[in-house]
Amino acid sequence: MVGSRDSWDAGALPSLAGRTYLVTGATSGLGYFSAEQLAGAGAHVILSGRNVNRLTAARAAIGRRVPGASLESMIIDVTKGSVVRSAAASLSSHERLDGVIFNAGIVHPPRKREEVDGHEVVLTTNVLGHFALAAGLLPTLAKSGRDYGTGRMVWLGSVSTVSWKTNAIDPELKENYSGPRAYVQSKFMVQALASEAQRRLDEADVAVESVIAHPGYSLSGRTNAVAGVNEVRRLKRFFANLQAPVTQSKEAGAASQVRALIDPLVKGGDLVGPSRTFTGPPRIYPADKVTKLTERSRLPEVGREVWQFCESATRTTWPFAASRAPRV
Ligand SMILES: NC(=O)c1ccc[n+]([C@@H]2O[C@H](COP(=O)([O-])OP(=O)(O)OC[C@H]3O[C@@H](n4cnc5c(N)ncnc54)[C@H](OP(=O)(O)O)[C@@H]3O)[C@@H](O)[C@H]2O)c1
Repeated sequence: MVGSRDSWDAGALPSLAGRTYLVTGATSGLGYFSAEQLAGAGAHVILSGRNVNRLTAARAAIGRRVPGASLESMIIDVTKGSVVRSAAASLSSHERLDGVIFNAGIVHPPRKREEVDGHEVVLTTNVLGHFALAAGLLPTLAKSGRDYGTGRMVWLGSVSTVSWKTNAIDPELKENYSGPRAYVQSKFMVQALASEAQRRLDEADVAVESVIAHPGYSLSGRTNAVAGVNEVRRLKRFFANLQAPVTQSKEAGAASQVRALIDPLVKGGDLVGPSRTFTGPPRIYPADKVTKLTERSRLPEVGREVWQFCESATRTTWPFAASRAPRV
């Protein structure tokens, strides 16, 4: 399969036999379809989610749709610091972890500001939880990076960030909260973290790549029904179909994050997203090419500020030194 930065056939993935991937928020939407696509290519997939029933339903659905799928489930509520830390510790016992998609997220924020774990809820879910999880997984990913040339983390950005016209971050939004602002800022911060992570991984000589993916505009109402996972009412489908020209299914949207995770042509710091911005097969936008989506979030001063905020809010430092290849 595969060939160039501009082409990708999601229906003909290379064999991923022997590889292990973790997907957060795998109980529905893009996370579910990413997990299904990875399992379909022969990878061992660790589905994670916050709700045991939804996790069981997602695992059962992949089991039905991908005969012989190699699956494991793990409860990870990304808003719970202690759960995130113990999940990362337990994953370190895996022989290999080739990559992770930091997919879980709040897409429809509450109208009024809410907090969880001492921080605004969209910030905690979309940004802080994955920052802490990445720190815990780094040594395990780096080992796969050294041993097998894999080791990748994929962060979910969003086209909505092109509307973010300032570099000034107000993470907690205590005075100026609105749902859309919380969402767009959280995705801007995620993109900044992904770029900053790559700079720090390079500097520390750690064999892990940090990549940004975005799914364009992907709707469950344009996605095939999957019993127990994607059951959409007729009215929702009707309205989703009215937006057909600028939307795609979550199955199609998931191709960006899957490509970002597994394609050897993708390099750390790159962005992977639909060829027609909102829709289309994923293409690679190299790190050194300015895109509207990343031009502000990849600025080093922005990345540094977001990083320091996340370190202090989560009381977490990434173990770069412990993840570097031992000197011989
Ligand atoms: N859809 C788009 O067009 C679009 C565009 C740009 C970016 N994205 C990004 O893509 C990602 C997935 O979006 P989606 O459209 O697939 O959304 P979705 O259908 O609402 O799925 C979100 C997933 O995240 C999980 N989740 C939410 N809070 C969690 C928590 N505290 N701990 C663990 N899991 C949690 C949900 O689990 P439950 O089942 O328990 O709720 C669900 O599995 C998000 O990061 C989003 O920002 C989406």
